[in-house]
Amino acid sequence: MTDESPGKLRSVVVGLGSYLPKRIVSNADLEKSLDTTDAWIVQRTGIRQRHIAASDEPTSQLGLNAAKAALADAGLSAADLDLVIVATSTPDYTFPSVATQIQAGLGMTHGAAFDVQAVCSGFVFALATADKFLLSGSHKRALVIGAETFSRLLDWTDRTTCVLFGDGAAAVVLEAQQGEGTAQDRGVLTSHLRSDGRHREKLYVDGGPSTTRTVGHLRMAGREVFRHAVGMVADVVNEAFAATGTTASELDWFVPHQANRRIIDASAEKLGIAPEKIVVTVDMHGNTSAASIPLALAVARDDGRIKRGDLVMIEAMGGGFTWASALIRW
Ligand code: UT7
Repeated sequence: MTDESPGKLRSVVVGLGSYLPKRIVSNADLEKSLDTTDAWIVQRTGIRQRHIAASDEPTSQLGLNAAKAALADAGLSAADLDLVIVATSTPDYTFPSVATQIQAGLGMTHGAAFDVQAVCSGFVFALATADKFLLSGSHKRALVIGAETFSRLLDWTDRTTCVLFGDGAAAVVLEAQQGEGTAQDRGVLTSHLRSDGRHREKLYVDGGPSTTRTVGHLRMAGREVFRHAVGMVADVVNEAFAATGTTASELDWFVPHQANRRIIDASAEKLGIAPEKIVVTVDMHGNTSAASIPLALAVARDDGRIKRGDLVMIEAMGGGFTWASALIRW
């Protein structure tokens, strides 16, 4: 690469780390207090267990643990960062942001930190936001974190929602590096973000500071969400293929948002993605909203599946509705 060559900046993943709370709640545990069964939960969702944060363990703590792991993985320190973006819908407080608390926890007093709220699509929205900062040249290294404590939003008497979610956090460090401008470059190759606020009633929390002045509980018309999910996901993934001139057969890994095994499998089938390329963690983590994709990336990277140079498609759909995809060369 010479100074005269066109090239293109790329946001390359140089670190990845995750954190799950210690307490594991199995489906059998839920059977004790709810009119539900392990068989129903596994058959309808694929979920077998979820991690639940301790009462003194807020979202920022989960996120800080994941952030430290990602920085250690990158061989970097907070001094090397200039941007921290946290995707969350379960902040410790209405304000300040979780991102500023993690920034402080890292001992970082420079740069900028803020939260992005796009519910289950939050990590892809945050990654795309960081990517655009890095590509503009204004920032060099970003920490992008998905961190959630959805257990705090659940109505634990509502079997149609409380069996589905879990807590956790994971983070990536993105670094602006010079690429060639082709799909062979390492880094975020493209991202596609969508939203449509008409669907608010299908998936929402029935409380908030400017309405009820309470935190509220998660409410979902599950079947309605399911009905929209597969088509929306397929649309944004196909946009990512079209934008990069790549195809499903060139993908090494499909790392979808982990809400329901049936949604994941139906999306992959619609997109022509081979079953052996799908990374599934919903069985172990449940739906951790904005944390689910980076948690799945961490599992598949740590067990040796995702390797440098692999082509990885991430996608999500969630409350709003919001939906999004990003194609990453690892
Ligand atoms: O991450 C954000 C995006 N969110 C999602 O992607 C979630 C999308 N939706 C889903 O994953 C599924 O719709 C659910 C897993 C929530 C539900 O699965 P479903 O196959 O759509 O079931 P359903 O809602 O149609 O309910 C079927 C039956 C109902 O009983 P009736 O009316 O047929 O008698 C429910 O009351 O299953 C019953 N049911 C349960 N039974 C045992 C609902 N929850 C439970 C439960 N245990 N936990």
